[in-house]
Amino acid sequence: MKFFVDTADIAAIAELNDLGMVDGVTTNPSLILKSGRDILEVTREIAELVDGPVSAEVVALEADAMIAEGRKLAAIAPNIAVKLPLTWDGLKACKVLSGDGFMVNVTLCFSANQALLAAKAGASFISPFIGRLDDINLDGMELIEDIRIIYDNYGFETEILAASIRTVNHVLDCARIGADVMTAPPEVIKKLASHPLTDAGLATFLKDWEKTGQKIL
Ligand code: E4P
Repeated sequence: MKFFVDTADIAAIAELNDLGMVDGVTTNPSLILKSGRDILEVTREIAELVDGPVSAEVVALEADAMIAEGRKLAAIAPNIAVKLPLTWDGLKACKVLSGDGFMVNVTLCFSANQALLAAKAGASFISPFIGRLDDINLDGMELIEDIRIIYDNYGFETEILAASIRTVNHVLDCARIGADVMTAPPEVIKKLASHPLTDAGLATFLKDWEKTGQKIL
C-alpha cells in the first residue's frame, strides 16, 4: 500500500520523505488554509520535494471553470494530480482533464456508486473519506471494501486512495482490504511506529544495560 501524506506542511513532508515513507501528498483547501501559504507556491515546493503524485484541489463548481483551474494547477509540475470534487460537473472535468493526460484525483467520495462513476470518467485516484463516514456512524471501511470488489470485478485501473484517515487502525484495515493508497496526516503515520510493549521492553533493556556497567561507544 502506498503512503501519501495529507498535509501542506513542508517540514512535516520533508521529515517523512527523508525516511522513504512518502509515495505522494494530498492537499485540500482546508490544509492550504492551515499552512498559511499561497497555493501555487506551496504546491510547487511540495511537488519539487517528493517524486510521487501531489494532489492540488480546484475550488470552482462548474465544469469549464474546474477545467481551467485544473490546467493551471497541473502546469505547476508534471507530478500534480488535479483534485476534483465528486459532483456531476467534477466528473465532466475529470473526463476532460484525464483525456488531456493529467492525473485526476476525485475527492469527497462517500458511496461505491460515486466511485464507479469516477472510474468510468477516467480518474487516476478515487478518494473515499473514511473518517467523515465514521463521524456520522456509518462504516467507512465497508465503503473501501465495496469499491475494491467493484473495481476488481471490472478491472478498473483507478487507484483507491483511502482518505480522511484518523487512526492507526484505519491504516491497518485499509491494508488488509487492499486499498492501493492511504493518505493520512503526518501524526497518524508517525503513530504507526508506536507500541506500548516496545516502550516497556526498551525501558527494561536499558535498565539491565546500566547494571552491566558497559558502554558501546
Ligand atoms: C484527502 O484527500 C482529504 O482531503 C483528507 O483526507 C480529509 O481528511 P479529514 O476528513 O480528516 O479532513
